[in-house]
Amino acid sequence: MNCRICGHDAEPFMSFGKMPIANGFLSPDQYDDEYFFELAPIFCINCSTFQLLEQPDPKMMFHDEYAFFSRTSKNMAKHFTEFAQSVMDGYLDDVSPLVVEVGSNDGILLDNFAKAGIRHVGVEPSGNVAEVARKHGVNTVTAFFDEDLVADVVSEYGQADALIAANVMCHIPDIHAVVQAAEKLLKPKGVFIFEDPYLGSMIEKVSYDQIYDEHVYIFSASSVANIFIHHGFELIDVVPQVTHGGSMRYVLARKGARDVSEVVAKQIETEHALGLHKRETYDQFRLNCEESRESLIRLLKEKRAEGASVVGYAATSKSTTVLNYCGIGPDLIDYISDTTPMKQGKFSPGTHIPVKDHDTFKSDYPDYAVLFAWNHEKEILANETLFMQSGGSWIVFVPCVSVRTE
Ligand code: TMP
Ligand code: ZN
Repeated sequence: MNCRICGHDAEPFMSFGKMPIANGFLSPDQYDDEYFFELAPIFCINCSTFQLLEQPDPKMMFHDEYAFFSRTSKNMAKHFTEFAQSVMDGYLDDVSPLVVEVGSNDGILLDNFAKAGIRHVGVEPSGNVAEVARKHGVNTVTAFFDEDLVADVVSEYGQADALIAANVMCHIPDIHAVVQAAEKLLKPKGVFIFEDPYLGSMIEKVSYDQIYDEHVYIFSASSVANIFIHHGFELIDVVPQVTHGGSMRYVLARKGARDVSEVVAKQIETEHALGLHKRETYDQFRLNCEESRESLIRLLKEKRAEGASVVGYAATSKSTTVLNYCGIGPDLIDYISDTTPMKQGKFSPGTHIPVKDHDTFKSDYPDYAVLFAWNHEKEILANETLFMQSGGSWIVFVPCVSVRTE
């Protein structure tokens, strides 16, 4: 296939096999019609962009029953307050600034601007999450972010100081169209600030579960610089984040409009040292994924053979890749505990493990819980001290498969 960014030839370096929609939690009467696609990542040697070979139609992933609500984690709320503050401190005009967010979800990030009395517009294609944002007083339109939408926003509110996005840009296959629309939206000194899971962290931690249908790209500073340069934008700052198991915040401005921080060149050098530009790095990553899979299956089978009860903790989108790639079904995991009502009573995509509420977990602790929300490890372990006190252990698989008893 050709690279989505630059058109250069790029072949997949591995396949995770047939995958269902990561957030496609379903009921047994839907099993026969379950949709699968081949989950295979590609690395383009020309523009350094890590991407998916095939991506399901966005309408299959983002719709009115989209099950993901950002407001579920307290740590994420704190993180977004800090994100908003950094935008307010560094990039807004003194007079009547405007902030626009692409994929504003339930308004968790824009909330901070709303509370500060800053003009803002959230753009969110999933009707049900957009509705939650509106209930919280966040000005939100239910739409995909494109040039038509930008024309409407500009005619109603004028141009924006900042376009922001969190865990959204990596979802959008036609990123060039978004940057073109951004170009029309932003004031001459306007900035585009977005953050997404970071390729360097994924490669280092073998956190292959970042790879699923919605993540059509896993960015690095090098790839973001290459993508935006086509549109006259340059990368002026990068800020590493601990969220989602290792993310990066990118700040872009029109070339020459703002100073470029020296950390940009340093980050690109670090990526070179990590080998992020080389095919061999991805061949090694494939081997690391295979090893991780074997260890996890071995451990779960061992615990089952001992007669232990094993459940999953948090039916995350990431868990769909792990469960399907490793072939882990209800024979190895009794159920997955999850706090999102929309997932409860349903079954995990592809592997059909029941999803139950958190009370089920608390009322009868299992021997082991597989920590699918490993990126929230600190928060979860602090909340679940009783589980460990009653003899329970965690099974983690990032950065390596291991059992944790404290
Ligand atoms: P994701 O953002 O990694 O896809 O995961 C979000 C899912 O994890 C969501 O369904 C809620 C669930 N979850 C729990 O059930 N318990 C928790 O403590 C956390 C942090 C998440
Ligand atoms: Zn390319």
